[in-house]
Amino acid sequence: MRISVIGCGYLGAVHAASMTSLGHEVVGVDVDAEKIARLSAGEAPFFEPGLVPLLQQSLASGRLRFTTDPAEAAGAEAHFIAVGTPQSADGTAADLRYVDAALDALLPILREGDVVVGKSTVPVGTAAGLAARLEGSGAVLAWNPEFLREGYAVKDTLHPDRLVYGVPQGAGGERAAAVLDEVYAATLAEGTPRIVADYATAELVKVAANAFLATKISFINAMAEIAEVTGADVTLLADALGHDARIGRRFLNAGVGFGGGCLPKDIRAFTARAEELGRGHSLAFLREVDEINLRRRQRMVDLVVESFGGRPFGRRVAVLGLAFKPESDDVRDSPALDVAVRLKGLGAEVVSHDPEAMGPAGRMHPQLAYAASAEEALRGAEAVVLVTEWREYRDLDPVATAALVDQAVILDGRNVLDAAAWRAAGWTYRGLGRP
Ligand code: UDX
Repeated sequence: MRISVIGCGYLGAVHAASMTSLGHEVVGVDVDAEKIARLSAGEAPFFEPGLVPLLQQSLASGRLRFTTDPAEAAGAEAHFIAVGTPQSADGTAADLRYVDAALDALLPILREGDVVVGKSTVPVGTAAGLAARLEGSGAVLAWNPEFLREGYAVKDTLHPDRLVYGVPQGAGGERAAAVLDEVYAATLAEGTPRIVADYATAELVKVAANAFLATKISFINAMAEIAEVTGADVTLLADALGHDARIGRRFLNAGVGFGGGCLPKDIRAFTARAEELGRGHSLAFLREVDEINLRRRQRMVDLVVESFGGRPFGRRVAVLGLAFKPESDDVRDSPALDVAVRLKGLGAEVVSHDPEAMGPAGRMHPQLAYAASAEEALRGAEAVVLVTEWREYRDLDPVATAALVDQAVILDGRNVLDAAAWRAAGWTYRGLGRP
């Protein structure tokens, strides 16, 4: 099938390459000429494991190309909208200008029977408005949310947990579902569950899933706050809770909390949308989820300040990690970067390291010092702060690391180190929500 993908950021670039690997002929369109040049050369504009080989294979097949000209999307049967929906500059709602612009670009080239497929995360009700704009074009709109995780984007796109199609009633809806079934034929053949729903349900699945995940993380971080005043250990608590199959252990890791380009903005946009709908009270708890999450960053900073007897000024702190999570170079709303910036703001001499995210972090915060290696960041440190749980940091040897630093004090913001082993090597170890 001929497919176009409008927007070649995280979602769109991965989607375009993945759809090519399923056998389709794909054109990726983006307004950013530099991004298009890099993708056309088989380079990924961001770090994502597995994307470069997939991109190169797909380009080599001759069935994938990238362009800045939306007219080249003409002739495709399915047009995916994969542009960003960031938090708006003047509030917490989602900024839909890129979605609107994508539809504007498609309108002149749509033919009878084409299917426009929204993948971007949007406030519930958006699809109905876009469908109204398509009236008279002969094209039909489907909403097909994406659940990919950064770091696993290729796997999540090719082998998703489920496929959700939001379609209208009647012949248009049947046409849309049939086209999507053809797009995802290989995925469906693996037995992937497929749920066909109305637009509103499809839009809600995405934000509800992210709201649930954010709530799960803030739940365990709230338990960490209780553990901190009772002497309990939140990691053991999570293990014990996780054995209950109804609860499950995943997403119960307490620490500096969630960040990234999705969870924080999605729960805020969802709350803003509920308020518009007169149901603000239904999602009032998400404000609490957000606040618990943001408090954990400050708790981390407070622990560092405490380790300096309340006087962090001029003290050297090694910050290990900048990305919002491992296997990503994304620093959007990153708790790790936030902790580094706050410590710097208190006058500490912060030296940061991250295996992948130092470029993006440096562009956003040139005032921070970035070390070429973890070893360089650690040398002479008076406190070590682990805020992104990269394998490289989890594997640090406490004895060898002690020889590098000035003061053997480690603050484990992700609760991933073996506290006993670090203490045995002479370290003062503190986790978040651990005694
Ligand atoms: C998320 C959703 O998982 C994905 O389905 C959706 O499509 C986009 O948003 P992503 O932003 O890539 O994906 O990250 P995710 O793996 O969900 O982690 C989000 C944040 O939560 C990270 O900062 C991570 O460090 C944090 N986290 C995760 C915790 O603090 N504790 C946990 O137990 C799990």
